[in-house]
Amino acid sequence: MPNPFFEVSGKSELLTGDLASLGGSFIPENFPHREVQIEKIVSILGSIMRDTRPSNIIIYGKTGSGKTSATRYVSRMLSEAAGSKVKVVYVNCQIFDSPYSILVEMANSFSRSTDENIPELGLPLDRIYNELMSRVNSFNRFLIVILDEIDKLVLKNGGDALYSILKTTDDTYGGKTSIIGITNDTGFQESLDARVKSRLNQESILFTPYNASELKDILNYRIKGVVRDGAIEDSAINLCAAIGAQEHGDARKAIDLLRISIEVAIRGKKGKVTDAEVYSARDKFEMDVLKEAVTTLPMQSKLVLLSAVVTQEIDSSLMVTGELYENYRSICTELGFQALTPRRISDIISELEDFGLISSSVKSMGRYGRTRIIQVMGSLESVRKYLLEDEDLSMFRGGKITRQYRFVTDPKDQQKARSEDLMQKLDDLRESVPDDH
Ligand SMILES: Nc1ncnc2c1ncn2[C@@H]1O[C@H](COP(=O)(O)OP(=O)(O)OP(=O)(O)O)[C@@H](O)[C@H]1O
Ligand SMILES: [Mg+2]
Repeated sequence: MPNPFFEVSGKSELLTGDLASLGGSFIPENFPHREVQIEKIVSILGSIMRDTRPSNIIIYGKTGSGKTSATRYVSRMLSEAAGSKVKVVYVNCQIFDSPYSILVEMANSFSRSTDENIPELGLPLDRIYNELMSRVNSFNRFLIVILDEIDKLVLKNGGDALYSILKTTDDTYGGKTSIIGITNDTGFQESLDARVKSRLNQESILFTPYNASELKDILNYRIKGVVRDGAIEDSAINLCAAIGAQEHGDARKAIDLLRISIEVAIRGKKGKVTDAEVYSARDKFEMDVLKEAVTTLPMQSKLVLLSAVVTQEIDSSLMVTGELYENYRSICTELGFQALTPRRISDIISELEDFGLISSSVKSMGRYGRTRIIQVMGSLESVRKYLLEDEDLSMFRGGKITRQYRFVTDPKDQQKARSEDLMQKLDDLRESVPDDH
């Protein structure tokens, strides 16, 4: 039989190279449509070649606009050209999210072996700082620190967190340190105080969102040497580019979509990637994103979202905060959780909205005042399924959930709601009576 493992491993007649090179961590050898930004970074860091400390840089732009990969690409070229004259330290501030852990990471980048590493906990900040400074000074060369997702550091610790790191760029007499901050939050600088802002933002570079035609060039470039010529229909590439462009010009989305489309075609033993594979890849992709968003929520947010789902299942036209709260309390009682206050639930609703899991709008309810109307985004069935994957929620049966009629204003509708409620209660009763009665 033909070896089935070749198909699983991605070896297919569609491929001429490794599909992994379309994965997120792969850094390509070229960045079409980022020439201007790359040239600007090169011209700033180029001062190292003339033995002058480069300015600090802030790089900003929407998600998937190539900030991280283009910066890493340039820093790799710099290391290649400047050799031992420069050390580049890359820190993702989502992972190293305190000034302490960043200073430790910077200091440890000078260790020749793990024996020289500073412990991650246990030393006071000024000891870490002094150790770092002595290492930098005796290094006596250029240190470039890339702080990716720098907004996360500020969000978690406030602007002062940056101050202690930026101070390292002043205090180095022997070594010369520069910071490159990367962010997709254009507003984050607003929260910084003037002394931090002016030090960090000596140069700023904007990564503009890609349009569909730029994304098409990027996709065509990225599949070279990976996919057999002609194996992907032009229209399928255009479709991935168009979808990426709709998502604020996101190259990551366009590339992921194309990679999943190729995987779909391989698994379906198709000779070509067409629009159909892109559409099914998009569905799969959106499902994956939704699943990730739902399953990683904290427990109380899951309970609120579950309440939103069941409330909307009962009546899709009208879901208001009060109704959602009542059902949330019933769910908490059923599953043995302590219910939070309406105030906290209102915060959680706003958080769920930020995650794009629900949408809400304020509506006037006549003499009942104004209220927030809530709608779950995505398929109710999928959201419910992902929520109930949580062991602590898997026992949810919804026996105590009923329609609330406090917000139904028309008396006829109230009557209808009450009789529907009664029917539901009767159904529940019937279900709870054993068959042989
Ligand atoms: N011009 C380009 N040419 C080739 N590939 C690109 C280009 N721009 C982006 N990519 C690819 O798109 C993906 C996303 O890019 P990257 O991770 O650099 O985005 P980002 O701006 O850092 O996004 P985020 O703000 O979400 O961190 C990466 O796989 C990257 O290699
Ligand atoms: Mg990035």
